[in-house]
Amino acid sequence: MNIHNKLIQGKLLVGMVFVLLGFGSSHAQDFVRATSRESDFGKTSIDAYTPEIRENMKQLYHDKIGLFVHFGPYAQLEGMWEGKRVSAEWIMKRAPISIPDYEREAARKLNPVNFNAKDWVEVARKGGMNFMVVTSKHHDGFAMFDSEHPYNIVDFGPFGRDLIGELSDACNEDGMGFGVYYSQSQDWHEKGGVGNDWDYSKPTKEEFNAYFDRKVVPQVRELAAQYDDLFMFWFDTPVRLQGSQCQTLMDLIAEGQPQALVNSRLGQGYGHFDVSLDNGKTPSVNKKAWLPDLKVPWQTHGSASGGWGYTSYAAHRDQSSTYTKRIYTLCNIVSNGGVYLLNVAPAPDGRIPQEQIETISVLGDWLKKNGESIYNADPSPYTFPPFAITSKPGKLYLHIKEADKGIVKLDGLLTKVNKAFVLTDPEKRPLKFRQSKESFELDLPSEGLEPRVTVVVLEIDEEQARVADETIRPLADGSISLPVSKCEYEIARIGYDYEKKVTFRWGENVKQGLIWTLRIEKPLGACKVFAEQTGDETLTYEFLVGEQRLLLDAKGPEEMSRKEATGTITFDQPGTYTITVRPVVTTKNKDYEFKGLTLVPVH
Ligand code: GLC
Repeated sequence: MNIHNKLIQGKLLVGMVFVLLGFGSSHAQDFVRATSRESDFGKTSIDAYTPEIRENMKQLYHDKIGLFVHFGPYAQLEGMWEGKRVSAEWIMKRAPISIPDYEREAARKLNPVNFNAKDWVEVARKGGMNFMVVTSKHHDGFAMFDSEHPYNIVDFGPFGRDLIGELSDACNEDGMGFGVYYSQSQDWHEKGGVGNDWDYSKPTKEEFNAYFDRKVVPQVRELAAQYDDLFMFWFDTPVRLQGSQCQTLMDLIAEGQPQALVNSRLGQGYGHFDVSLDNGKTPSVNKKAWLPDLKVPWQTHGSASGGWGYTSYAAHRDQSSTYTKRIYTLCNIVSNGGVYLLNVAPAPDGRIPQEQIETISVLGDWLKKNGESIYNADPSPYTFPPFAITSKPGKLYLHIKEADKGIVKLDGLLTKVNKAFVLTDPEKRPLKFRQSKESFELDLPSEGLEPRVTVVVLEIDEEQARVADETIRPLADGSISLPVSKCEYEIARIGYDYEKKVTFRWGENVKQGLIWTLRIEKPLGACKVFAEQTGDETLTYEFLVGEQRLLLDAKGPEEMSRKEATGTITFDQPGTYTITVRPVVTTKNKDYEFKGLTLVPVH
């Protein structure tokens, strides 16, 4: 096979050829990008995926879930300022609180005397987790580790202990991966840092750069030097950073902790793996960042504490009504190729509240019995999984919620199923199913199911399941349905609600394309376009098919409704079309939800 033949065989091979030809030098910045559609992640060169990084990436892909911990001086304020509820880790900015007040009331008082690193490790273990990521410095600028910069937990407050150091040791002892969160742009304590507009004026570019060199670079270097074997650096809210500054941090980390993974919130497209927005999910399987020989998962995060940091009013909430949803969320994330960070917010005394431990434990108990379908599992063979499905060679795992008892249907499965059984059944008693060409139906037994989410294992006749072509086609009445549940996200910075099947925080930036692939056998002629969405006063988005472009605006009622766009789109040739919808004038309306589009031929 010559190189040209290989090239036309698809993106993965294109990627491999790049490697073979050595394009992976320091400026092969577009490697990941080349394997994806327009994405804002992928600036990091393939060279950065060293053997050590690959090993930890495999570990991350294996582990699927880790503990996220937000702990710092804000916990001391418990979410309250001047007798009012403000917010958790953002309290300093939201109140706002002056630096001297925050130092006096929060940083100087933080004394987590009941903190025990081993307890935190134990909580993570209870959750079936194999790594944790802890805030080493949040936007308030306070370092939870021993630092040359005096505003830190060892030198500034009464505690006098290196909390990050103790956690690092406890994790190493236990064989648990340990990662540090570090806020690299915002710093409400330090002149030049981003965000504090009540004590300082907005930093100039020079002031920000000076801050970056004076505090961020040395602290990241310290973190990289002081602790053994860090699993990852989790950066956050990259604003005002230049690519060269991100590269500087990547280089520092590669030097001090060559095995440490870096998340994409480092900024400017840098990092080893991509992170969605907070609580961001995807409707479809996302393997855009996979390298030819390395599965690079995307990552999202949620919280078991009602927020990220501790507040007296949210961190003790009973979460039992959400347990099933939480477990199912993990299943959906893994089904779509992602990994999950689940946050807890320790109280000012350093202990993780019981209510949060409960949530973590319920998830962990489920994982102890059903973990085979999650740990190291590959995503669904369907690009648009009808429900949470994961896979391993020769097996599919169907995740069925309590409420969905009865018959389980799976259309489009082409591979023969040899046997079906409930994962937790020690005898693996075969379940009844019917399979014909493209339809598969399984009778769920009424007994022996798991209380929250039951996993049914399908033993299949091939290593990898084959599924029917999922390309969208016209419906029987000639119309075309383009639901969000069948689109691919151009970038991960959009949220998706698996129950309502709507996007959230779509429309915030012009890169947020939603992409559908449509095939038509005969020309459709001109089509009207209808959008299903809630209203938004500002959002205007474009509908793109090849050279054709239609503008849609989201003005309308607050509730979900159908709205016709002005103008038509014409499909006058049979063939495969890529349809993209992208914001032109963006929205900040967090409640805005978009469910999809319908095209209706005019004739
Ligand atoms: C954010 C917030 C922050 C929180 C983080 C968690 O972007 O600024 O407070 O630490 O998300 O992912």
